[in-house]
Amino acid sequence: MHYNLSSGSQIPSVALGVWRAPKDKTAAAVKTALKSGYRHIDGAWIYRNEEEVGQALKESGVKREDVWLTSKLWNTFHAPEDVEPALDDSLQKLGTDYLDLYIIHWPLAVPKDGKPADYDKELTANPYPTWQKLEEMVEKGKVRNIGVSNFNIRRLQNLTANPLKIQPAVNQVEINFWFPQVELLEFSRQTGILLEAYSPLGSAERVKDSLNVPEIKEVARMLEMTPAQVIISWHIQRGTIVLPKSETPSRVTENIHLKKLPEAAFVKIENAVRAHKPERGSNPSKNWGLDFDIFE
Ligand SMILES: NC(=O)c1ccc[n+]([C@@H]2O[C@H](COP(=O)([O-])OP(=O)(O)OC[C@H]3O[C@@H](n4cnc5c(N)ncnc54)[C@H](OP(=O)(O)O)[C@@H]3O)[C@@H](O)[C@H]2O)c1
Repeated sequence: MHYNLSSGSQIPSVALGVWRAPKDKTAAAVKTALKSGYRHIDGAWIYRNEEEVGQALKESGVKREDVWLTSKLWNTFHAPEDVEPALDDSLQKLGTDYLDLYIIHWPLAVPKDGKPADYDKELTANPYPTWQKLEEMVEKGKVRNIGVSNFNIRRLQNLTANPLKIQPAVNQVEINFWFPQVELLEFSRQTGILLEAYSPLGSAERVKDSLNVPEIKEVARMLEMTPAQVIISWHIQRGTIVLPKSETPSRVTENIHLKKLPEAAFVKIENAVRAHKPERGSNPSKNWGLDFDIFE
């Protein structure tokens, strides 16, 4: 399954996420993923395992053009002159000359070698100069699609109020049973900025809770699926891309064997998701010493 982007690209709906995959387990996870049918890897410069992803892709025998590679521009490279060198570093590590998708990892412009608390207020408030450089990377052929991550509606509206040549293709944000992003999903449907669900199982901290939700367990039993498969299928049926991470080969394979949920099962989960107060799993604002909440 894939989604069509306005650029003409087709983005596969499920990716293997590689955040917190240790260097010595990343290549095996990526190779298992490619063997099991994944054609989309969600990585980032800051995950420090791009070389392992690139090496696994090379050794897998799967052609570069058959795999969707995403990477992310780290916070310390938002200054326009730093964007292309940062992208080149990711390209070199991944062993490729283009990315399918390059996204601004966080709406926070930190000076090179600086601390998050010393962020550049102007560039953080309006990342248009960073975006223009990303547009230039598309024109140069180094990137096929560009997008953002961790942007709320206000930040998306601010960015798109600039005279963009290319609209953001995606917004990658936390979405899971505990934090369903109902409002952002509606905004995404209206604007065509596709959502990518990160921490789709609740991340390492809440994956056990997610797999134990009674409604999810019930649907899993009824459809002879695992709870993880039910959750990943639910994400796709909501119209988002989904990025489950696993460094365990059997789980990597499990997470791509999906089924369309019957309408009643989908509604049962969607109702359960909306019945509780949204709880965000992760917010780095405090750890980064910011004087504002990055999600507000
Ligand atoms: N843009 C951003 O700021 C951002 C932030 C966070 C994440 N992401 C992206 O989203 C991806 C996924 O997010 P995430 O890693 O936070 O969370 P996640 O995919 O929701 O959860 C990962 C956890 O679930 C476990 N797991 C995976 N499949 C399982 C299964 N079938 N049964 C039981 N446990 C299972 C994994 O264990 P094992 O690995 O030990 O198998 C790991 O502990 C990341 O890798 C990254 O690509 C992006």
